[in-house]
Amino acid sequence: SFDVECAQSGVTVTVGADETIAKALAKEGVMIEVKCEEGVCGTCMTDVLSGEIEHRDQFLTDEEREDGDVIMACCSRGKGKLVLDI
Ligand code: FES
Repeated sequence: SFDVECAQSGVTVTVGADETIAKALAKEGVMIEVKCEEGVCGTCMTDVLSGEIEHRDQFLTDEEREDGDVIMACCSRGKGKLVLDI
């Protein structure tokens, strides 16, 4: 598991191994729109302020992955704590 802090809403959640960032946040009322839920459509792209991302999508380019400024909240994960701009 890893923690996700939402800088704008002030909510912090722990994302368990069996759930996604989008689902864990939705339980706390922080909604991220998702469509494909498989990392291909780009709908759930969310800005990342800090933290190391474990990218599991097929949407971002290699360069975008290395930059680490955005995450696909339907499938990608954090290595340790992530702070999102939501
Ligand atoms: Fe399609 Fe996340 S919902 S990439």
